[in-house]
Amino acid sequence: MHVAIIMDGNGRWAARRGLPRTAGHVQGAKAVRRIVEAAALADIATLTLYAFSCDNWGRPPGEVAALLRLLRRSLLTETGHCAESLVRVNVIGRRDRLSPDLLRAIEHCERMTAEGSRLNLRIAIDYSARHSILQAARSGLAGAGGEERQFLQRMDEVNHSALATEGVDLLIRTGGEKRLSDFLLWECAYAELYFTDCLWPDFDADGLHQALSDYARRQRRFGRVPETADAAL
Ligand code: FPP
Repeated sequence: MHVAIIMDGNGRWAARRGLPRTAGHVQGAKAVRRIVEAAALADIATLTLYAFSCDNWGRPPGEVAALLRLLRRSLLTETGHCAESLVRVNVIGRRDRLSPDLLRAIEHCERMTAEGSRLNLRIAIDYSARHSILQAARSGLAGAGGEERQFLQRMDEVNHSALATEGVDLLIRTGGEKRLSDFLLWECAYAELYFTDCLWPDFDADGLHQALSDYARRQRRFGRVPETADAAL
């Protein structure tokens, strides 16, 4: 199962406590640790987290710097823990605009956790689904020799990456908004969507279990009819 999460609400969590927005992100990083552990225990195969979007560069420079510093620090401090818990970390998104320090932390974490077999943790940094689709289309067009089937196959390969062979099954967004915000648009073609008002720093294992039990009650049809409908024909 592939679960993807838009971790929204850090800023509001901080504002409600009279704290700077960056304090919300620090608390959000603690929630990431909780949810990664809960996801591994819940037998989720792939968890993709939206940590920094291409549009986030438009935030005040101080917040951008604090967020990227926090991501680097979290990667460095969590690498050992992830390796021990067999969590394989892979970062998706653009790499051409990240600082050498952050790139080194990403590469180190990916290398040290490469053997992880329990959970594929994908962290989206400087990520835009539209950019990713455009890259896939460019590469697909170059490699497919004009064959539509090969082109679509290549789009799947590039968009899902080597680690998530299937599309997203369940997309969770915390923080009360109901939108996709340029996250995994290709992979979410048949995803079930789950929105909660809970702000990301407050999201915990119980919240994840609630989302999973809501998902378990959904009937997924992938554009077809339910099996029982055959009998009615
Ligand atoms: C959205 O909340 C959250 C982000 C843009 C950043 C998400 C980053 C983290 C949770 C930090 C650590 C991540 C990892 C992977 C260690 P917002 O700031 O838009 O909140 P608001 O809507 O209340 O303003």
